Amino acid sequence: MTAPQLTIVTSTDWHDYELLDSGNLKKLERFGEFRFIRPEPQAMWQPRLDSDAWVADGMFRPDKNETDNNDSGGWRLSKNLPDSWQMRYQDLRFLARPTPFRHLGFFPEQAAHWNWCADKIQHFQQKHDRRPRILNLFAYSGLASLHAAATGAEVTHVDASKKAIAQAFENRDVCGLQHAPIRFITDDASGFVARELRRQRTYDGIIMDPPKYGRGPKGETWRIEDDLRPLLQHTTDLLSQDAVFLLLTIYAIRASSLAAHYALEDTLKDRHGQIDSGELAIEETALNEQTTRRYVSQANFARWAAY
Ligand SMILES: C[S@@+](CC[C@H](N)C(=O)[O-])C[C@H]1O[C@@H](n2cnc3c(N)ncnc32)[C@H](O)[C@@H]1O
Repeated sequence: MTAPQLTIVTSTDWHDYELLDSGNLKKLERFGEFRFIRPEPQAMWQPRLDSDAWVADGMFRPDKNETDNNDSGGWRLSKNLPDSWQMRYQDLRFLARPTPFRHLGFFPEQAAHWNWCADKIQHFQQKHDRRPRILNLFAYSGLASLHAAATGAEVTHVDASKKAIAQAFENRDVCGLQHAPIRFITDDASGFVARELRRQRTYDGIIMDPPKYGRGPKGETWRIEDDLRPLLQHTTDLLSQDAVFLLLTIYAIRASSLAAHYALEDTLKDRHGQIDSGELAIEETALNEQTTRRYVSQANFARWAAY
């Protein structure tokens, strides 16, 4: 048996987002017309731009005693920065805003997954002449749900946080998808999946991006080490006969993408199709034509596709 071939996936379709430079454990990024400097523990190399290019409208300063798994710290923001502003990816429009968790309300590297899901959704429609039903668990501010709905899927969007669901509504309105077939559900992911199994509902595609720790709306605990395997088993049982994909992203733990790969392989062993896995990365803007582009890895993933 050969070892799984690990892939680096990235999207080259961004215009409103750019990784301008990285190094010295930081990244310099552009979100629309605003620049940000954020901690980047992976960037154990030298920046390519001069230090006077590292000016930004917002800088996140981590707490001094921070560890890898701790997002604590605070923003220093310029007075000119609005509370939120509109961004675009392909036909999708949405809001960016600095959050207490050092990100800006969405994860630009996920765009590679949105494209991959769109491809599967289009194939499904051509083959079955109906909208695929997609389940998005831990769905946060909704960009994967909105992209999938805009491509032609019927989406069930589940997140435990009312605030996250409110952000998803806001993004839905910004991109004019008020009438798209999306069910927004505030619920615990594991509890929701268990109930869907009892109701004998099925899905043609499943997206999930679980955090390390989390809480359901009624205080249900989520711990990736204990809860991922049962959830994967149950979500696999929710896949329809016609199902085309299952996508798992893991930012949360210091694990190789092989861990996600073998976890999917276990639960999907009775299904035909292929699993690929690797790292979700953002591509740095090249300094000039002579420099090679650098990629900054943000998460591990594994994904199963029926064809
Ligand atoms: C890492 S974010 C997901 C990011 C999202 N996939 C994206 O690309 O924008 C994790 C999300 O999981 C949600 N969450 C945490 N615990 C949960 C639980 N037990 N059930 C459902 N959602 C939960 C959080 O509210 C948060 O929105």
